[in-house]
Amino acid sequence: MRKKIVAGNWKMNTTLQEGVALAKEVNEALKGAEPKCDVVIAVPFTHLASINAVIDQNKLGLGAENCADHKSGAYTGEVSAPMVASTGATYVILGHSERRQYYGETSEILKEKVALALENKLTPIFCIGEVLEERENGTYNDVVKKQIEEALFNLSAEDFGKIILAYEPVWAIGTGKTATDDQAEDMHAFIRGVIADRYGKEVAENTSILYGGSCKPSNAPQLFAKPDVDGGLIGGASLDAESFMGIVNAF
Ligand code: PGA
Repeated sequence: MRKKIVAGNWKMNTTLQEGVALAKEVNEALKGAEPKCDVVIAVPFTHLASINAVIDQNKLGLGAENCADHKSGAYTGEVSAPMVASTGATYVILGHSERRQYYGETSEILKEKVALALENKLTPIFCIGEVLEERENGTYNDVVKKQIEEALFNLSAEDFGKIILAYEPVWAIGTGKTATDDQAEDMHAFIRGVIADRYGKEVAENTSILYGGSCKPSNAPQLFAKPDVDGGLIGGASLDAESFMGIVNAF
């Protein structure tokens, strides 16, 4: 059975001290709790090792927000998958629309990143999603299908089974404009069908597909009630322990 997951994406927010304090708060909130989903926080590279030291990863998974498309070498300023893994992190967000949009990440580059993440036993949270224009001109299914095909369908079924997908319509990210639960369900069911066509029904049924884009405690219960929505990738609302826990508790 596929996992239910709520993952925070802190993006470029919090200083090290603020980040450690926030991670401790979430960790503390989870101590007595028995959430009905896995809980993960993806944090800036600079915070990984320090946060790893103060959380219980049996209750709160830790991830990076990106990794390099090379293993090591002369790539000034980059952080590799082995480096991320060496901090104790076990997840990595890849292909976030902000990376695609502002840092020119293409499917070719993402393919390398996914391979390196898997080689280093990091679980990729792989983001896909259409921009507003593609939503409005009705090409959104094709766009998302292409993103998945180009970056992931070179994987073996076994490796594909290690991927978590996050559908994040770009027009809903940080805009306060959430996809309706029906829009999310339609896309998630479509994605599951695309996976089934390539890897078979069992792999498709076992793939966790998260929704992301202005998800908050007030709309999470409705979104998570949909059969193909397996949780959320949470930006803004993950920067406050109480609202993040409110989403975790939506399950
Ligand atoms: P948001 O971001 O929740 O702030 O819309 C989601 C994301 O980009 O992962």
